[in-house]
Amino acid sequence: MLVPERVTCIVGARPNFMKVAPAHAALAARGLQVRLVHTGQHYDAKMSAVFFDDLGMPRPDAFLDVGSANHAVQTARVMERFDAELEAHPADLVLVAGDVNSTLATALVASKRGIAVGHIEAGLRSRDWTMPEEQNRILTDHCSDLLFTPSPDGDEHLLAEGIGAHRIHRVGNLMIDSLRKHQDRALQLPTLDRLGLQAGGYAVTTLHRPSNVDDPEQLAALVAALGEVAAQVPVIFPIHPRTRARIEQAGIALPSGLQLAQPLGYLEFLGLMAQCALMLTDSGGIQEETTALGVPCLTLRDNTERPVTVSEGSNTLLGSDPASIAPAATEILAGDGKRGRVPVGWDGHASQRLADVVCGGFVPLTERPPGT
Ligand code: UD1
Repeated sequence: MLVPERVTCIVGARPNFMKVAPAHAALAARGLQVRLVHTGQHYDAKMSAVFFDDLGMPRPDAFLDVGSANHAVQTARVMERFDAELEAHPADLVLVAGDVNSTLATALVASKRGIAVGHIEAGLRSRDWTMPEEQNRILTDHCSDLLFTPSPDGDEHLLAEGIGAHRIHRVGNLMIDSLRKHQDRALQLPTLDRLGLQAGGYAVTTLHRPSNVDDPEQLAALVAALGEVAAQVPVIFPIHPRTRARIEQAGIALPSGLQLAQPLGYLEFLGLMAQCALMLTDSGGIQEETTALGVPCLTLRDNTERPVTVSEGSNTLLGSDPASIAPAATEILAGDGKRGRVPVGWDGHASQRLADVVCGGFVPLTERPPGT
């Protein structure tokens, strides 16, 4: 039985911060020694630093400064640097979140050192092995001792893949802990005034998936379709650096009404999301956040690893055909959008349930009889 005293929490890329902040705070409040390591996968102030302030998260104890590179090189860099970090600062448990390259890299290093791994947001599956995130989440799950799932489909996938029930803990959605904690503050910011928008009178879009932005033809068609929506309501587009670079490289002209903005901080984006008429996105996390807020969301992908946002929440999986965007948006803007309901366990207390599991102790994989 292991009752961890020293926990190292990992953040690396933008979608990690809002999942790790509540876990870090809950574990520290229980008296554990918690160390925060930032791999540096995201490094622009607007993709990283602003989140620490917005979420009230302490500065990282270590910054590995890996930066951008192709997938294998970035993963390898994180592994080398995190191995040295663990050598200098041993831990009983390494806590990782989500499905980015930093998640898999640090989980693997801990596993190779015989250190227990906890995975926040375990069990999600898109069934699309071409997505780097699908590779990362499946491989991370299989080397984790504690699998913290957000919804029942996560448990089902893990059990079907042969992972023992004793490793699976359905704690709910940690990202929604952050959302509930900061929602009121986000609504008080003057973001809408700054951007010249009226509550309920605009749409928001984000795009960054390789499948949407790496092919110039697909990207141009998506931008044109967003232009059709922008003919009806202003569409605000806080743009990921990789998408901006692709638009510039391809020389794509921006239709009027489509308003490009710098990537926003957590609070500003939350405020914008909570008051929009419609979200159009290929993000994973935004599908969940709009479900928690009851805001209609059109997901511009062919699959989702978050089906509960469609079956229960406010999400519609529209697919990646740009021609379907304007008709679906028009319907929602006419008032026919899905509002859905909030799934069980997305209640703002997931981090407390995670801390209960960690502090209650568990038998790590290294101490289990073979095959169990
Ligand atoms: C990563 C995650 C993705 C997540 C996304 C959220 C992986 C495999 N992908 O994708 O799951 O949804 O983060 O944003 O881990 N760049 C900057 N500044 C930064 C970071 C990146 O300009 O601070 C640019 C660089 O040109 C870089 C490119 O964005 O090469 C891609 O960054 P990378 O971290 O490799 O992947 P993301 O597309 O951000």
